[in-house]
Amino acid sequence: MKIEKYLEPDTEYCNIVKKILKNPEFIKRKEYRHHGNRTVYDHCLLVSVISYKIAKKLNMDYKSAAIGGLLHDFYYKPWQEHKDPRPFFKKHGFAHAGEALENSKTHFPELMNNRIEDIIKKHMFPLNIKPPKYKESWVITCVDKYVSMEIFKDVKNLPKYVGIFKKEKIN
Ligand SMILES: [Fe+2]
Ligand SMILES: [Fe+2]
Repeated sequence: MKIEKYLEPDTEYCNIVKKILKNPEFIKRKEYRHHGNRTVYDHCLLVSVISYKIAKKLNMDYKSAAIGGLLHDFYYKPWQEHKDPRPFFKKHGFAHAGEALENSKTHFPELMNNRIEDIIKKHMFPLNIKPPKYKESWVITCVDKYVSMEIFKDVKNLPKYVGIFKKEKIN
C-alpha cells in the first residue's frame, strides 16, 4: 500500500503548520536523507499529516498532533552522512528525540506546549524507555513506526538505523 496517498493536507492543516514549513532551518531537511528514498522533510510531513487526520477523527488535540508530528525528527545533523563517534546509548537512535526537542524549542518556542514536547521527546518509545504521556503522543509514536516500517525490508542496514554506524549496504 502506498502511504503517500494519505498525504493530502487540508487548508486547516496548512494553516497550523505554515510557520514551520516556511522556516529556512526546517526546509534544510529536504536535503537530509531518511530511511530508503525519503528525505527527513518528507518523512516528517507524512507522519504529521497522518497523525493530524487520526487525531481529528478521534477528537484529540489535532493541532498538537500536526505540529509534534512535523517536529518529531527535527534533530541537528543529517546523521546518515556523518560517522557518529558517540557511545552506543548516545547514538542517533537514542539521542535524536532529545535533540529534536531542543531544536524545536530554539526555533519555534511560541508553538510549544506540554503535549507537543511530549510527542517529540517520547516518539522513539520503547527505544527511549519513558512511555508517552498523552494519547496524541501515542498516535505519533505508532504512525512514525508504521511509516518507517520499510526499514525492515532493508535488514542489512538495520544496525545503521538503530545507531550502530556501518556504511550503508547497497544490495
Ligand atoms: Fe525519530
Ligand atoms: Fe520519525
